[in-house]
Amino acid sequence: MSDLQHQLKEYYADVIDSVGDGVIVLDDRQLITLMNPAAEEIVAVSRSLARGQAFVALFKGDDVLLEMVDKTSATGMTISDHENIVLKRGGRITPISATTAPLLLASGERIGTILVLRDLTNIRELEGAVRQADRLSTLGTLAAGLAHEIKNPLGGIKGAAQLLQQELPAASELQEYTEVMVREVERINRIVEELLNLASPKKLQLARVNLHQVLGDIILLQKSAIAQKRITIQQHFDPSIPPILVDEALMTQLFLNLIKNAVEAVGDSGLLKVTSRVLADYSMTQKGERTSRMVAVDISDDGPGIKKDQLEQLFTPFFTTKTGGTGLGLAICQKIVSEHRGMIKVDSEPARGTTFTVMLPLIQ
Ligand SMILES: Nc1ncnc2c1ncn2[C@@H]1O[C@H](COP(=O)(O)OP(=O)(O)OP(=O)(O)O)[C@@H](O)[C@H]1O
Ligand SMILES: [Mg+2]
Repeated sequence: MSDLQHQLKEYYADVIDSVGDGVIVLDDRQLITLMNPAAEEIVAVSRSLARGQAFVALFKGDDVLLEMVDKTSATGMTISDHENIVLKRGGRITPISATTAPLLLASGERIGTILVLRDLTNIRELEGAVRQADRLSTLGTLAAGLAHEIKNPLGGIKGAAQLLQQELPAASELQEYTEVMVREVERINRIVEELLNLASPKKLQLARVNLHQVLGDIILLQKSAIAQKRITIQQHFDPSIPPILVDEALMTQLFLNLIKNAVEAVGDSGLLKVTSRVLADYSMTQKGERTSRMVAVDISDDGPGIKKDQLEQLFTPFFTTKTGGTGLGLAICQKIVSEHRGMIKVDSEPARGTTFTVMLPLIQ
């Protein structure tokens, strides 16, 4: 091979290796001849291992992909599928889109098949977040109307109960009942207020905030509240995270809700971890096509975890499994996060514990 040919070959190899999508090239017998690093990651097989292997051997059970490759190598057709393919590798399930295209020589002769794979995990997560936000906004509008209607009669009941309190002799046993009435009316009132807050968009008071300070303060506060219990709270903060532009009061509310839920989940003893990190592989496109990195805060506990069928309802207003809970905590969290153009997700399995992850853009 001449020097020039050699250089060209390396150049093309570098080009393929640099493509962000997974690329796998098969020869006319469907043996793997080439695989780039992105494909290695998606398929979870090293290319030295894959090279020379039959495609069917590596993708046994992935029927849609096998069918696509067969069809392309038989007919020369280009085929794409963005919906139906999930790869199960090493305990991980990855939704992917795939395209198969014929590998053609300049003469038009078909000498193999090119398979391009794209990891859709991040896209699916974003789609989920958008659906959730949509549902919340419809519910919010409804709830706000209802909340308004409830507040006036509540005021009436409270006023009447207080009058009764004044009319009854101070020593009367009935005073106990009036106290219950006033207390419970106030409780409903608080719930309704929270609901109204949830439904009405408020302007964010943005300022540069040191997230670690906010988290540290909440943890300190919680530690004194749980001093009697055997609960350990660990914090692992990435010192390289700069102050970020957020609404400090809302951040406090957000993380307080999550940390309180974790404390409530573990009961009398358990381990909570609050971790911050910079997300390198997550970027959201800003207006003007600038991408910004995101910071992630994980709040995990080793509590009982959440059943699969409940996971979908967690962020729905009023979903609660606690006696005395309002079920608004996570709905409020969701709203705060989406107002900051971030994402919140939950990862939980019964008996293994729960991790809530909040992702916020470093730049608003
Ligand atoms: N860390 C966690 N571990 C297990 N379950 C959780 C956890 N966080 C939330 N949940 C579940 O999600 C439900 C909804 O949480 P949310 O914070 O919205 O309401 P709540 O905690 O029940 O009530 P409130 O926040 O108003 O006191 C909880 O009732 C609980 O079942
Ligand atoms: Mg809660």
